[in-house]
Amino acid sequence: MNDPSGPDRPPAARPRVRSDLDGLPLFRGRAAQSGMIRLDCNESPLAPPAAVQAALTGAVQGLNRYPDNAAADLTARLAERHGVPPAALSLGPGSVGLCAQLIQIACAAGDEVLIPWRSFEVYPSLAGTAGAVVRRVPLTAGHALDLPAMAAAITDRTRLVFVCSPNNPTGTSVSRADVERFLAAVPPDVLVVLDEAYAEFTGRQADPLDGFALVREQLRQGRTNVVALRTFSKAYGLAGLRIGYCLSAPPVAELLGRVAVPYAVGTLAQRAAAAALECEPEVRERCRHLVEERERVRAALLDSGWDVPVSGANFLWLPAGPAAEPLAAHCREQRILVKAFVGEGVRVTVGTAAENDAFLAAASRFARTEAAAPVRSAALG
Ligand SMILES: Cc1ncc(COP(=O)(O)O)c(C=O)c1O
Repeated sequence: MNDPSGPDRPPAARPRVRSDLDGLPLFRGRAAQSGMIRLDCNESPLAPPAAVQAALTGAVQGLNRYPDNAAADLTARLAERHGVPPAALSLGPGSVGLCAQLIQIACAAGDEVLIPWRSFEVYPSLAGTAGAVVRRVPLTAGHALDLPAMAAAITDRTRLVFVCSPNNPTGTSVSRADVERFLAAVPPDVLVVLDEAYAEFTGRQADPLDGFALVREQLRQGRTNVVALRTFSKAYGLAGLRIGYCLSAPPVAELLGRVAVPYAVGTLAQRAAAAALECEPEVRERCRHLVEERERVRAALLDSGWDVPVSGANFLWLPAGPAAEPLAAHCREQRILVKAFVGEGVRVTVGTAAENDAFLAAASRFARTEAAAPVRSAALG
């Protein structure tokens, strides 16, 4: 008998797969790394609240059963929490899962998804997966979304626009008035997704955007093309469980249900999220502390000559240009992981006070090296 993997094996026919996927970026995520300070993925530095951990332990017994596909208990709690009908809410495997579903319901092959850039790095691959064409609108010189330019970039083929605020990775926020002006310029048949993964960290800001309040108001006015996304991954510290939610008009929620992978939101995720909603004061306190730390770290970085835009998220953006990769490599040598965007900048998550101090020490040592020359000259110029 021929060895099936041997030299006599006839060339295997390749499955006929989509050739347009060849150019898609591969999201690698981060391998588990022990002994490192992990400031590269915008996670909470703290373990989930004790009550959430207890709820998870209690839920383990029931794992022989499929989850509640409608997540009725959690949906009812979220509906009450946000003052919306349950039929306007959709849950997904992380808000990134809902981003994919939103693209699926809006776009056929060749339709356009409009995104700010740089923004959440996964938008292009999600759009490409659906066969949609990505149109990128550059950020302003201040690293913020350029909403007038985005409105002007909408074409007859545009089906969906992502408005990411605070924006990942730059941390900048758009105001409510800016978004209202933008929405007035968007055709009512184009879906606008307000991605608010970091909404809980905004802190004090003039005229802050509250996407949930805005969608509620739009729905009252009979406008159904605006949706808002939130997640339990960041403020609630449940990134490892994968659960996010979307507020939309009920017919949009219905469509999201149609394209959802069955049982995508597991029992543990549902139970933990429900328990986390019961811990809101503790979650708010954690966010307040992280916002305080963010401001402390930003002030220290500004003091040492870095240019750091105001952030409304649990991370900061250092537009280090060509020094981005050397800075990230330098931090890695000190056992600190930060996220480098080649040639553009470094995003650093706000961690515990000790972790932040370690990063600040590494950044200030780096600022004295040759590799930091472009940053120093930008600061001077
Ligand atoms: C802007 C933005 N949206 C969505 C997500 C997805 O979050 P999750 O899928 O964990 O809810 C992230 C995660 O980093 C993000 O930065």
